[in-house]
Amino acid sequence: MLITNVWYIAEWSENVTDKPVKARMLGRDFVLFRDPAGKAHCLSNTCCHRGASLSQGKCQEDGTVSCPFHGWRFNAEGRCTTIPSAANPAGDIPAAAKVDSYPTEERHGFIWVFLGDRPEEAHPLFDMPENTDPAWRKVTFTDTWKANIHWMKMVDLDQVHLHIVHGIPLNEENPSRPSAHAVEQLPNGFRTHIVSRPPPRGGSWGQLRQERAEVNSYLTFYVPGFTLYGKVEIAKGFSNVFYSMSTPIDEENTKLYLIAFRNFMLEPDKDKDHLDRNLRNVYQDKAIAENHFPKRAPDVPEWPVINVDREDLLMQTYWRLMRQLRGKGWQVDRLRLDELDRNGDHRVIPSPGRRADPANWVYGTVPLVAGGQ
Ligand code: FES
Ligand SMILES: [Fe+2]
Repeated sequence: MLITNVWYIAEWSENVTDKPVKARMLGRDFVLFRDPAGKAHCLSNTCCHRGASLSQGKCQEDGTVSCPFHGWRFNAEGRCTTIPSAANPAGDIPAAAKVDSYPTEERHGFIWVFLGDRPEEAHPLFDMPENTDPAWRKVTFTDTWKANIHWMKMVDLDQVHLHIVHGIPLNEENPSRPSAHAVEQLPNGFRTHIVSRPPPRGGSWGQLRQERAEVNSYLTFYVPGFTLYGKVEIAKGFSNVFYSMSTPIDEENTKLYLIAFRNFMLEPDKDKDHLDRNLRNVYQDKAIAENHFPKRAPDVPEWPVINVDREDLLMQTYWRLMRQLRGKGWQVDRLRLDELDRNGDHRVIPSPGRRADPANWVYGTVPLVAGGQ
């Protein structure tokens, strides 16, 4: 179940310099490049001329990216501006000499790309206030999981696994049972606040906490980047904040972008411990998610099938949201797309420019599941 019309992270900003970069998302390839002013752009990677990979080309001084095969140049809007072999290279450009161009935003150290043709209906990008606040120290991490995006999110949103998988006791009476919590809807996701009363813990972080203190956890799911934001109190006023962001490479592989912040032990030599504490959980989650079955699921209107009180509130809200996005007609029809791919009928994610002018495109668009279901 892959969803279009969402802002996804395409790459870390620092990895896109003066050379085009390929990014695979939603089972399609895209090229990222910068113009001389430094603005990042994203086009469909497949050249409309003979199908070469634009990411093997070059960033040109006129702000275009040139194809590695015959040197056609494409601007930020995806329009071909130059055909080197033509009698008049900058004139007589065929109407179909264009590729899809997608909106980009550079924020929080990432290049965000809106993969769809309805940016006016986008769930808005979120702020990351810790990123510019010197009170917070940051560590980052990237990984690729052999798991579909929903399994990656499930090990983020699930409550009971915190104790079972990570050994984090939730409450003294029953360490596996989450405290009561309510979910609040947001324009771009949903959030909850959970108060737990875990038994005291040891270790350098555990010592910060007073005996039997309540622990406040704030969790927010944002549609952009399929992001789980978490703020977990380590002690009064001290928190570990993380943003766990997911980009679907395809149906069975997902990229993880993680940023974690802390507002205590700010010395740089504490970074490794901070990252290791977060990664310990990440790798435990990865082992669960990569072995989940079915590999390409879920793609059903009802999920999960069995619900138990408290543990599933966030997952139920997540799936309700997925069903809404599917109902808008934004879900890729993977069965039909698989068949088209097998038959050599190359399809791309629809872009805003294509919606504005549907004529003269070399490649068709990926089939989508009809809305309203
Ligand atoms: S294949 Fe790209 S210019 Fe010919
Ligand atoms: Fe987890």
